[in-house]
Amino acid sequence: MSMFPPPPPLYEERGRRPNRREFWAKKSCCGREPEKTASPKNAVPIKKLSEKEIKQQVKTRYDEFAKQGGSADGCCPLVGESTESFALEHGLYSQEDLALIPKLAINLSRGCGNPTNFANLQPGEVVADFGSGGGIDLVLAAHKVGPTGKVIGIDFTPHMIERAKQVMKEAGLPGRADFILLDIENPQVPDNIADVVISNCVINLCPCKPCVYKQIFDILKPGGRLAISDIVTIGDVDPKVREYFQSIWAGGIGGAIPEDEYFKIVQDAGFSQIKVVARHILGSKELDEMASCPGEKFSPAFSKEKLAQIQGKIVSTKFVAVKPKE
Ligand SMILES: C[S@@+](CC[C@H](N)C(=O)[O-])C[C@H]1O[C@@H](n2cnc3c(N)ncnc32)[C@H](O)[C@@H]1O
Repeated sequence: MSMFPPPPPLYEERGRRPNRREFWAKKSCCGREPEKTASPKNAVPIKKLSEKEIKQQVKTRYDEFAKQGGSADGCCPLVGESTESFALEHGLYSQEDLALIPKLAINLSRGCGNPTNFANLQPGEVVADFGSGGGIDLVLAAHKVGPTGKVIGIDFTPHMIERAKQVMKEAGLPGRADFILLDIENPQVPDNIADVVISNCVINLCPCKPCVYKQIFDILKPGGRLAISDIVTIGDVDPKVREYFQSIWAGGIGGAIPEDEYFKIVQDAGFSQIKVVARHILGSKELDEMASCPGEKFSPAFSKEKLAQIQGKIVSTKFVAVKPKE
């Protein structure tokens, strides 16, 4: 029996949703239309990358993105339709959440959900954010765990760490976060210190997902839990098409693996009570934006034709799981 609920309808079937630009700038619809074909200037080269090259590509692009202060055009919408059920189902940020977050963190935000929304964080807990980026979820987590708790941001790009520190200060929460500049696949991630691990659209970027889940398992105290938002694939994706997207790994699609394979990795790492709390298939605009994350300046746009080949096959999933006590 599948552990996943049936996929909800595509966004398009629900009508158009407001995007982050509309939210912040009250401008009309979110910018660029997908290109008809990639121009020679930004054409995507098909090259099989080694793990080392993947990491270098991801690190360089996100570091440069952070250095430049981010931008308001994100990879995923920050807010959904105004109905509560939409926001809950899609794990997005509420207006109340967004009111707590400095603009810098919004501009650097490149998540695909809001793990603090379903992590059931409690005062006094220690929360580690794997791939904390500009700190959007650190701010929300710090509010939830309060002054007796602690948040720990882990990221491998120096500029993201610097920006997230600045964000915590601007949010009026200095001293409430520790930061570790480290690859989340690295065994040097400390053991047994966290009650909860959150992660938002990061593990899809990691070439060795079992390595990341091993580190998540190890950093958690026995009985600790995870709350993750990530990108996976469903259905048959032509291997050639997959390879093509993998050439731009830093976009959120290249590193996405099949959903069943993904949850087997989580299970094999030792987690129990794996429960998908929300899941949706990316609509065409989301897909277009996600594919060139953190922004077209850093990851060139894919052509409309290429995107059509994966339409309906890219899923944003939000789930929880527990590290057994024994
Ligand atoms: C798509 S952004 C998401 C950032 C943040 N979680 C958010 O919701 O805005 C991915 C982040 O993960 C970081 N990252 C990617 N791979 C990593 C790795 N192997 N180790 C540590 N950080 C990593 C990047 O530097 C970047 O800050």
